[in-house]
Amino acid sequence: MIQFLLNQELRSEHALDPNLTVLNYLRDHVGKPGTKEGCASGDCGACTVVVGELQTDNDGREHIRYRSLNSCLTFVSSLHGKQLISVEDLKHQGELHSVQKAMVECHGSQCGFCTPGFVMSLFALQKNSDAPDPHKAHEALAGNLCRCTGYRPILQAAEQSCCGKQPDQFDAREADTIARLKAIAPTSIGELNSGDKRCLVPLTVADLADLYDAYPQARLLAGGTDLALEVTQFHRTLPVMIYVGNVAEMKRIERFDDRLEIGAATALSDCYEALNAEYPDFGELLHRFASLQIRNQGTLGGNIGNASPIGDSPPLLIALGA
Ligand SMILES: Cc1cc2nc3c(=O)[nH]c(=O)nc-3n(C[C@H](O)[C@H](O)[C@H](O)COP(=O)(O)OP(=O)(O)OC[C@H]3O[C@@H](n4cnc5c(N)ncnc54)[C@H](O)[C@@H]3O)c2cc1C
Ligand code: FES
Ligand code: FES
Repeated sequence: MIQFLLNQELRSEHALDPNLTVLNYLRDHVGKPGTKEGCASGDCGACTVVVGELQTDNDGREHIRYRSLNSCLTFVSSLHGKQLISVEDLKHQGELHSVQKAMVECHGSQCGFCTPGFVMSLFALQKNSDAPDPHKAHEALAGNLCRCTGYRPILQAAEQSCCGKQPDQFDAREADTIARLKAIAPTSIGELNSGDKRCLVPLTVADLADLYDAYPQARLLAGGTDLALEVTQFHRTLPVMIYVGNVAEMKRIERFDDRLEIGAATALSDCYEALNAEYPDFGELLHRFASLQIRNQGTLGGNIGNASPIGDSPPLLIALGA
């Protein structure tokens, strides 16, 4: 079984097809069609959702980190222990959320396909910003395409959303959401199993090794930004997957006197901060790597493991003697 919060609602899932994307789960399984499919390949951002994860700062303060993802390339198994927020969840007590109001007031909303994705990227931007910052706004929206050239009003909506922002319902409920996320924090191997297909979700490297031993044909799933394309673009079925994103040892970044160690399942956004500090050229490359949504879910291990001849990080890693 896997468990997660669908906004505030606890969902426990076991018998789902592990090839099911979060996009299709929202639209076809829970009746939330606000999230749209534009390309199903991570390019347009129409399917953007926000995922919240419990984080503990260096000073021990717990909070929820919100990040935008492309739901078309995210398998449901990767939600285990997290909070999923879709565009339907922003309106509260009959009032639009401040990012939705900003889109209306700045005339940033034109068609119904890309707008939900823009709204969710703006929501994630607002959650991660203390003040308007044009650089951050461009970065947050670079993975959302508008085909009718409406970017200027959308950037104005970004500025308005981050200007003097007021606490919203997510801030008001933060303590409660933290308690609920702690209550469902995974303590054993999670699993989605639809009979002939399964995805296993280990928590430790030792469990991962045992599972890989037991299922040598399994495909390792990290961010899914390459792997999920086999399902959404090539219409293949992946019968056995092992999701590595909940293995804490594989998500750590550690600095030693003579080296930097980066876990294979570390998201590219997290690698950016560590690598940019040491090697600004590497930081520049990661800044231009895909979009923020893809960097929030894609991993360094996945970029190497995918072994694509056009993968961007391997040439730099080789040059650095990694
Ligand atoms: C819209 C879009 C834009 C992109 N832009 C870029 C770009 O600019 N530059 C670029 O280089 N790539 C790009 N990519 C490709 C992709 O985002 C990266 O390769 C990413 O790093 C893959 O990581 P992932 O965690 O999503 O891998 P996944 O899709 O989860 O896995 C990819 C492959 O690696 C294997 N794997 C995963 N983790 C491990 C592990 N720990 N050990 C061994 N094997 C493993 C998987 O089994 C799978 O075969 C883009 C993809 C999309 C959809
Ligand atoms: S539908 Fe286009 S990025 Fe997901
Ligand atoms: S508002 Fe949807 S394409 Fe421009």
